[in-house]
Amino acid sequence: MANTLHDKTVLVVGRAGGIARAIVLLARSQGARVIAAGRDRSKLASAYEDPGISAEAVDLTDDASIAALAERVGSVDHVVSTASARARGNLADLQRGNLQQSFDTKVIGPTMLAKYLSPQINPGGSFVLFSGVHAFKHNVGYLGVGITNGAVDFVTRWLAVELAPIRVNAISPGVIDTGAWDGLGADGKREYFEHIAAGNPVGRIGTPDDIANAVLFAMTNSFMTGMTLKVDGGEPLT
Ligand SMILES: NC(=O)c1ccc[n+]([C@@H]2O[C@H](COP(=O)([O-])OP(=O)(O)OC[C@H]3O[C@@H](n4cnc5c(N)ncnc54)[C@H](OP(=O)(O)O)[C@@H]3O)[C@@H](O)[C@H]2O)c1
Repeated sequence: MANTLHDKTVLVVGRAGGIARAIVLLARSQGARVIAAGRDRSKLASAYEDPGISAEAVDLTDDASIAALAERVGSVDHVVSTASARARGNLADLQRGNLQQSFDTKVIGPTMLAKYLSPQINPGGSFVLFSGVHAFKHNVGYLGVGITNGAVDFVTRWLAVELAPIRVNAISPGVIDTGAWDGLGADGKREYFEHIAAGNPVGRIGTPDDIANAVLFAMTNSFMTGMTLKVDGGEPLT
């Protein structure tokens, strides 16, 4: 079957919840064998009770860990990286270390994933990276997040050219309730979500399934490469 995930192997880097979990479950429901990889292998292993979903350890800030993952998993069809380490805050509060961690995790890490795994991608395969709405919306407090996500958009296009015919795309989510905003506190989170939903042309914030569906599209549309798909409710437009 062309352009489906039936009998394909999909490697998803991230945590056991949030957007990564929605991608793992959707890919599995479409017939893929799924490898969930992240820093906490035992947590990932216990998160899914399905022999078609296996767990592997990887730290995207460690090249030896990425190379070892590539050796263990062998050939794969699609690689998705959702890992991130956000550097939120105003310029005055930003620390060099936080910015470096953000770039290392979301820009350099996926680039190294592409380096070590691209020789093992089966024909028709792809990489899907993760950018984010603040690459395209410039509001104070998100400089570190925005420049990291902007760099992902660039890396996606560069890799699409260098790795061709392997396809490389990115997804840019808007605000999604994954637990990533829990640091705002219950009231702060509710107020922020209401504020974003009111401004979004679609009138709501997003769900992990909204994003997983876009990842599925990126993996299976064999005519799309070098694109960042904005799945953000239209937030940057308003
Ligand atoms: N949620 C949103 O509103 C939103 C908005 C825009 C963009 N995005 C992007 O969408 C993606 C998924 O978002 P999310 O909210 O589901 O998850 P998230 O909270 O951003 O989780 C990312 C996970 O990446 C893992 N990670 C961090 N450093 C790592 C490393 N060195 N190696 C491997 N894994 C590492 C961590 O899991 P462990 O602690 O288990 O290792 C972390 O929980 C991210 O790239 C995020 O930036 C999300």
